[in-house]
Parts: sequence; structure tokens; C-alpha cells
Amino acid sequence: MCGIVGYVGQDAVQEVLLQGLEKLEYRGYDSAGIFVLDQEKEGHLFKEKGRIAELRKIVDHSIPAHSGIGHTRWATHGVPSVVNAHPHQSADGRFTLVHNGVIENFQELKEMYVDEAALVGNTDTEIVVHLIGKFAKEQGLSGKEAFRAALGKVKGSYAFALMDSEEPDTLYAAKNKSPLLIGLGDDFNVVASDAMATVQITNEYVEIHDGEMVILTKDNVSIETIAGKTVERDSYQASVDASDLEKGTYPYYMLKEIDEQPAVVRNIIQQYQNEAGELVIPESLVESMLLADRIHIVACGTSYHAGWLGKHFLEHFAHIPTEVHVASEFSYHPPLLKGNPFFIFISQSGETADSRQVLVKVKEWGYPTLTLTNVAGSTLSREADATLLLHAGPEIAVASTKAYTAQIAVLAILSHVLGLKQEITSDLDLVHELGMVANAMESIIDEKQHIGELAKIYLRDTRNAFYIGRGLDYYVSMEAALKLKEISYIQTEGFAAGELKHGTIALIEEGTPVMAIITQAESASHTRGNIEEVRSRGANTCVFAMEGLERGSDEIILPAVHPSLAALLAVVPTQLFAYFATLHRGYDVDKPRNLAKSVTVE
Ligand code: F6R
Repeated sequence: MCGIVGYVGQDAVQEVLLQGLEKLEYRGYDSAGIFVLDQEKEGHLFKEKGRIAELRKIVDHSIPAHSGIGHTRWATHGVPSVVNAHPHQSADGRFTLVHNGVIENFQELKEMYVDEAALVGNTDTEIVVHLIGKFAKEQGLSGKEAFRAALGKVKGSYAFALMDSEEPDTLYAAKNKSPLLIGLGDDFNVVASDAMATVQITNEYVEIHDGEMVILTKDNVSIETIAGKTVERDSYQASVDASDLEKGTYPYYMLKEIDEQPAVVRNIIQQYQNEAGELVIPESLVESMLLADRIHIVACGTSYHAGWLGKHFLEHFAHIPTEVHVASEFSYHPPLLKGNPFFIFISQSGETADSRQVLVKVKEWGYPTLTLTNVAGSTLSREADATLLLHAGPEIAVASTKAYTAQIAVLAILSHVLGLKQEITSDLDLVHELGMVANAMESIIDEKQHIGELAKIYLRDTRNAFYIGRGLDYYVSMEAALKLKEISYIQTEGFAAGELKHGTIALIEEGTPVMAIITQAESASHTRGNIEEVRSRGANTCVFAMEGLERGSDEIILPAVHPSLAALLAVVPTQLFAYFATLHRGYDVDKPRNLAKSVTVE
């Protein structure tokens, strides 16, 4: 949440910052700002409410400046407004700061150090920049030492980029719990929340670890701990391909990412195959997981929904009892842990603060951990004992689609390999079955025109909707409902079909859209019964049924695939439903209100 980019070099900085922010806009988009320093040490601040496109309109490109910082905001403290937009400045205007994260002791810092009259907004960030200014002024500290002194006082999560007007050729940065990395270039250096912001200009990066500060000039980068110890760290090449970040001819990233799913599934198969065509998982991970007598999956949102399919695979393919936990609830009722538990963290971004705080705790307890993520080098990946990558390519739309299917595919492969080692899943040709899923996904995607028409009929004018299903179809219903509600703003519930009659059916009235998912032979007839129950109470039902279980009147027929993998397919028309419903209702598909892609606050 919130995106930061900072640049010091030789090019016109305004365009570098704006382009970087455009790439980071998925992290938050309620307001944005940039600050540039010209060689006369004069600072120029531009801030605007809303999208980067609005900011772009007010930035003066003629200012000759080669260093600056920028920010796109997802509000935590203080409403989205120009005054609360970053960057923020110290009382004397000398220091300018951008921040991602939450300062937990900002109230205390405010009372102890900051003159309330000097504050213009309500953000926690403003307190920190005032603190830096105060330390520099009252203690005669250099910019670097004032920054260090302030970092010593601050508690919470942060990625900071700071400029001192007295040093237009230097940029300062620091990090604790929020993502930030350094990009290296010829005659320039950058900091950014994410490699995506700067992948157009460099693909060489250096990690910043928690508790470190960085001093950047155009020719040099030095890292120190906040305590002042010098840190040496090698750079690495980022694997992000700049062309993956473009929409191409697609109107929205979400549609592009839905369409990419067959290719993602095929790519995952390849990535996890050895030369003999066998599916493989690193041996040390397999050994560690086979020692486990219970697996705990921890995740949020869509990744949490994928976790339920993970439970199915781990229990059916590998016979290991598995529990699934919402990360933000974990610490309030942690599972009773005994024997040999093993923890799997699922996170597209690898940066989700709620999941990370559980990982930190689990590591303190000393249990083995694995992260499934789409982002190599992300925090959850670095901090877990092992990582399995999703290989889905960058996912830019806020609503997750291809990462969800990638998570399910990787969980299936992992569980299958664990099953093979125990001679449980020897009969399953998972490579073939996943290939069938990829083909079937293609034929559903080819039907998008028809699915779009249905979405219009069922969802354009409704205030609420339901997805229902049983067993694995219930797991898909939860995800389908999240997708629909988060971008179309239709209040949608994903419900266990059999549970409806225990209360929720009271909400069904004339015309309520109820989408039912039927892919499992064992529950099909019961779900059919539930469809009749809601239909007889006026519901406008829409049935997504798998070939072999369909009836003539069903609206969407899914090609038959292996029942355990049906979720991978059944979710695709629900994603398209969400996409088209949102278009028909006239909202921005890729950037729904109040949301951000990478949720780095707890
Ligand atoms: C919904 C969505 C979110 C994320 C959740 C966890 O479309 O994308 O629910 O799944 O915020 O994010 P990650 O997977 O990055 O940990």
C-alpha cells in the first residue's frame, strides 16, 4: 500500500517519477505527489487528489531538476486530500519526506516533539518529517544524522525516502517492515517500493533490509544500519520483463490477466517439471513437509480462498491433515500446536503485513515455513525457509485472477509430489490433467462475449447477489463473491449451498441473482435442490455446471476436467462475470475504490 519512487541522476526527474508512480498506482491511488529539487537548491512540490493522471496535469516539466521523490497514497491516517498527500515537509521546508507504512507511536512523538500549530494535515508521516527538521535545527545535525536520530524514535512500519534541500544530489531512504529496494543505473540510482516502478530504466537491484538506511547519489549507494554499521550487499537482476507490465491492446489489466491463465498454468507445469517430464519440488522441502503431521495454511483474501483448495489437495493427494487460517485472525485464536506442524504462507505479493506478522511469530516458535508467492525476493519469500514461485507474471489489476489459479496449480503440484513420495497419487497424471484444464480455460475464455451478456442480464442493476456451491464449489463461490463485490460494489455473498436455508435464504427476493456452481458429482443433486429452493422464492438463478452434470437449461457449461482441479476452471467464468458486471455498471475495473494491490499495513 502506497508506492514510493525516488531518483537521483542526470535525467529530467519529473518524468522518471511520474512514470514510476504510474507503474506503482496499483498500490494506492487516492492522491499522489512529487517533489523535485533544482540545482539552485530550490524545491518544487506538486500534490493532487486522485490518480497520477491528475498529478501529471499540474507538474511543471520545465524545471531543470535531476533529483526527486514521489508517492502514490492509500490513506491510513487522514482522509485523501491534497494536504494529506505526500510528500510532506518539515516546518522550515528544508526536509521533504514520502512514507509507506504506519507509525504506531505518532501520537506520542507529536506530543513530545512537534509544535501542533506547524502541522498542516493529519498524517503520521508529517510528524516524522517535523521530527527530522527539529533534530537538524536544534541539535545542529546534518540531514543524514537528523534522519538517523528520527529513525531511532519511530516505531511501526515504514519505507521512507527523504530529501534535504541543502543536498540536491543526495537521496536518503530507510525501511522497516514495508517494502523498498534500490535500483542501480549508469549515472543514476533509484529507490522504489517495487521493481516494477523502475524496470524501464534498470533491472539491477539491491535489497534493503529492515532497520537499514541508505544514502544514494548518482554514482554511489551506501547502506548502513540505523546504528551506523556499514552493510555490504550484492546486487541482483530482476526477472520482471518491462513488456509484461503493459496492457497492450487490452482495455484493462484484469481482462489481460484472465486471458493469460491458460498460459500461466502451462508455464507452471514447465517450471515444475524436470528434463524427464516429471513434476519436481526441491527434495529438502519434500523431506521437511513429509515430517509434518499437520499443515497450517495462512493467507488473506483471494490467497486465503486458494488455501482451501490447498487443504483439499494436501489431504487428498498427500494425506496430511491441513487447517486454513485467515492471517489477521491467527494471533487471536492460534491453533493448538503439537507434534510437527508445518506452515504454508500464500501471498501473491509476498508483502502482505497480516501474513507476515504470523510468519514472524511462527519463526519465533521455530516451526518450518514455506511461502508460495508470485514475487521472488519479496519479504515473505526471504523470511520463510523455502519458497515456491507462482510463475504467473506480474499481476497489476487489484482484483487477483491469474495469481489465484497459479496458487491452486502450484498447491496441486506440491501435494501431488508429496503424494507420489508416499505412493498415494501414483495413478494421477497431473501434467496431463493440468494441461486439460488449460485447454478448457481457453474454451471458456472464448465464450467471453456470451458470459458478458449474461453478466449484463443478471448483474447490471442489482444491489446484491449470491454465489452458492458445496464442497470444492463452495470454495470457488467464496472467491467468486469476493471478486464480484470488490470491483462491481454489488453486495455479494459466497455461501455453502446447504447452509442458505439456515437463515440467509431470508434475503432472497424477487429477482435476486443467485449463481450456482456445480462441478462435483457427489454434491450436484443437493445443490440442484438448493437452486430450486431459491428459484421458488423468486431468485434469478444462473447455473455454471460441468459437462456430465449439466441440465439443458444451465447457463454456462464447463468442459469436463479432473474433479479435484475443477476450481481452476470454474473460477474463470466468475472472474469474467465480475469483469463485465463492473464494465456494465460503469466502474474502473482495475482500480476499485478503497483498495490497493499490496496490503502492507496490518
Ligand atoms: C482480491 C485480492 C486480495 C488479496 C489479499 C492478499 O482480489 O487480491 O484479497 O488476495 O489482499 O494479498 P496477497 O496474496 O498479496 O497476500
